[in-house]
Amino acid sequence: MPKTYSIAIDGPAGAGKSTIAKRLAKELGYCYVDTGAIYRTVAYFFDLWGVAPKDIDGITRYIDELNIAIEYDEEGTQHMIMNGMDVTADIRTQEISQKASLISAHAIVREMLLDMQRDVAKTHNVIMDGRDIGTVVLPKANVKIFLTASAEVRAQRRTDELLAKGQKANYNQILKEIQQRDYQDTHREVAPLKLARDSIKVDTSNLDIDGVIAELKRIIGEKIPL
Ligand code: DC
Repeated sequence: MPKTYSIAIDGPAGAGKSTIAKRLAKELGYCYVDTGAIYRTVAYFFDLWGVAPKDIDGITRYIDELNIAIEYDEEGTQHMIMNGMDVTADIRTQEISQKASLISAHAIVREMLLDMQRDVAKTHNVIMDGRDIGTVVLPKANVKIFLTASAEVRAQRRTDELLAKGQKANYNQILKEIQQRDYQDTHREVAPLKLARDSIKVDTSNLDIDGVIAELKRIIGEKIPL
């Protein structure tokens, strides 16, 4: 099997991980894996079944009914397939964001998804983003980046993004949800969001997208032939 390279990008909700990782993947010719989308698919499945995200008995009972596949279209966009159904658009709601954060705390859920994530990295050069990529999923990743920004900056960016799409957005509400998810994602027992020992922290609070891309390319270029 040819040698593959992997780049792990972890960080809190709204730090710009997916925007940055997607663009970098395109520029470097890497496969982009959005692992948050996988947890969102799990949350969406149990939501359809009427199982609450903290109901571990319900989750344990029905988890074998869930089949998840990741597919890529010609443009390299990741699609989430849940029991044969493309749910890529359905998982992008605030409600599913919160439920994914809660459901991802269960060990049974994380274990089920581990090999799926690792398998992609065995056969492709990947940029994978999430919360535990550098610490748990790909501890031997060639480059580990921890992308962050203050909660206020992240909430403002999210607000602007929604308003630009013509959707309603309440900054205070968004900030509250971001802080809640930060707390849940960093305080769970299994694979919490934290800085890996060998991870490089990049604070994007005062950088625009081009600035972040340039900084990440510099960091990556020091470790991987580009
Ligand atoms: O990146 P995102 O906002 O789409 O992720 C949704 C939730 O999924 C997030 O709040 C926590 C969980 N998640 C996780 O626990 N581990 C990952 N590697 C990715 C996401």
